Amino acid sequence: MTPTPLRVMIGAGEQRWDGWTPTQQTDLNLLEPASFAAYFGNRWADAFLCEHVWEHLTVAEGERAARLVYTYLKPGGRLRVAVPDGNHPDPAYQAVVAVNGPGPAHDHRVLYTLETLTPVFTQAGFTVQPLEWWDTAHTFHHADWDVLDGPVYRSRHLDHRNAAFRAGVGAPGFTSLILDCRRPPASP
Ligand SMILES: C[S@@+](CC[C@H](N)C(=O)[O-])C[C@H]1O[C@@H](n2cnc3c(N)ncnc32)[C@H](O)[C@@H]1O
Repeated sequence: MTPTPLRVMIGAGEQRWDGWTPTQQTDLNLLEPASFAAYFGNRWADAFLCEHVWEHLTVAEGERAARLVYTYLKPGGRLRVAVPDGNHPDPAYQAVVAVNGPGPAHDHRVLYTLETLTPVFTQAGFTVQPLEWWDTAHTFHHADWDVLDGPVYRSRHLDHRNAAFRAGVGAPGFTSLILDCRRPPASP
């Protein structure tokens, strides 16, 4: 019998996706290795999903958190991570996601771009594939990624605010900088 994969959402908040186990900061705290040790014991996750959480950590905390998640991910497994995109062209978007911004952004510590987020994960040992991002010329890029491998709501694919953008007739609504971070299969 094939075991059910252990696919874990970190900082899930209200989000729920079929096949994914939601956890909160009280279960898995990216700043507290002991919370991972208590939750996983000697298990490994097959995959992690983390939407709009890493921007709540400083860069140094984010780097430590990347190394922590790496150690609890099976070799060959994937962390899919999404954060607000510092190159999104809409000033209204930038106002909402700003560092120390309004409402839920009051504790945003960093606003990442592809160039600044990628090394947070490569320094931990991950190989990184960008899935959705804006470049500095405000051009949007996206890979052909599978939602079933880790749904990110605030994405071109799924966010209800992007219907016209998906159809190629309107401006972008709300997108994220999304990366797939893989632990290499043969990693020790
Ligand atoms: C903006 S909410 C995003 C919630 C959900 N992932 C979503 O996309 O709707 C930020 C989440 O990050 C979580 N969070 C903040 N710091 C964290 C940490 N150190 N470890 C784990 N989760 C954290 C918060 O508890 C909160 O659930």
